[in-house]
Amino acid sequence: MKALRILVLNGPNLNLLGTREPGHYGVQTLAAITQELISLADTLGVEITSHQSNHEGELVDFIQKAGNDSIDAIIINPAAYTHTSVALRDALLATRIPFVEVHLSNIHKREEFRHRSLLVDAAVGSVAGFGPVSYTMALRGITEHLRNKQGD
Ligand code: DQA
Repeated sequence: MKALRILVLNGPNLNLLGTREPGHYGVQTLAAITQELISLADTLGVEITSHQSNHEGELVDFIQKAGNDSIDAIIINPAAYTHTSVALRDALLATRIPFVEVHLSNIHKREEFRHRSLLVDAAVGSVAGFGPVSYTMALRGITEHLRNKQGD
């Protein structure tokens, strides 16, 4: 059976993890989080590719490319674009690739403007509030979801 291919996308300011507002986001760097995801992907037998961008249009480009590259699922932490980006929502809907929305912090217990996501109702699921573990939960969850569907 072909290995599942999963794209991991991280939005603006997540390149600063490690030093950025550690009270909300912890002290682990994005490189360390990605490394953990790669090890888990190995264990699960899935392939992952990961990108971070501070630019909305570049994230749209990555999503559109995933459509052409027959990526099976996207794990996305859209960061601030969660709360503002119709463009990311439209790109995800256009490619019809199943996705999981991830947040390090629990956006629902922070400022009110963070409570709303423009993407989440189109997602397979979302994970928020577990720090870096939000990403590993998302990878386990979407892998199991896709495998259950393969078995249908
Ligand atoms: C975030 C939450 C967003 O509200 C914020 O803008 C981020 C990070 C998180 O992972 O908790 O940049 O997506």
